[in-house]
Amino acid sequence: MTTIPSEIERFDRLSTTWWNARGPMRPLHVVNTLRRAHVLERIASHFQGRGGSPEGLRILDLGCGGGLLAEPLAALGARVVGIDASPGNVAAARRHAALHGVAVDYRLGEPAQVLRPDESFDLVLALEVVEHVEDVAAFVGTAARHVAPGGLLLASTIDRTWQSFVFAIVGAEYLLRVLPRGTHQWRRFVRPAELAAAAARAGLRPIDLRGMRYLPLWHRASWCRDTRVNYLATFARAAR
Ligand SMILES: C[S@@+](CC[C@H](N)C(=O)[O-])C[C@H]1O[C@@H](n2cnc3c(N)ncnc32)[C@H](O)[C@@H]1O
Repeated sequence: MTTIPSEIERFDRLSTTWWNARGPMRPLHVVNTLRRAHVLERIASHFQGRGGSPEGLRILDLGCGGGLLAEPLAALGARVVGIDASPGNVAAARRHAALHGVAVDYRLGEPAQVLRPDESFDLVLALEVVEHVEDVAAFVGTAARHVAPGGLLLASTIDRTWQSFVFAIVGAEYLLRVLPRGTHQWRRFVRPAELAAAAARAGLRPIDLRGMRYLPLWHRASWCRDTRVNYLATFARAAR
């Protein structure tokens, strides 16, 4: 099992706030604009031969929360499965998708248990989730095993550096309070090499690593070269 009960309970308590762009999930809404544009660019370049659009792509969003990215990708025509271990989040995601007439296959539970072994996806997303799980290697292994030949895995998280302690914990949670206290535990942050090793064990190779900068006072996010705090890593499985 990769779920940490206290983490799931904490997310569950916040589940009604998921789609409030000015609430506790504000940082996710801010980075989501950036992530969404990046995912669409990636789809356009990597799946050019299949039209370069999300239309018809099989997408898996692990730790999907309220569906901030799963839902807009489904609205663009992708066949999306979203999995989350928090009942409140899955309920919020289902409610929001139904309200907007978007079809997403939301599933509640542990990814390895709610996915059939033969299910594979063109694009697997694990965004801001691996720093909240018990066994990163197992979680990433599951994510990677479900990437189809020629498919991609995108994983974003926070590196375990002194810079992340200063900016992501002391700055964001205690001084500026852009995130509720206790959102992150430094020891659970994930080094890019740890992510890459887990992905490599399941046959994926790294193709991109980029830093993400969040400016808390302005609530703005941008890509950068510095990966010592937030970063997004992309891995690919060779086509058959
Ligand atoms: C910080 S939120 C990120 C949500 C979403 N990926 C996003 O970026 O908008 C982390 C999510 O992962 C979920 N989660 C944590 N551990 C999980 C696990 N082991 N399996 C599935 N979901 C998990 C939490 O319930 C929460 O919804």
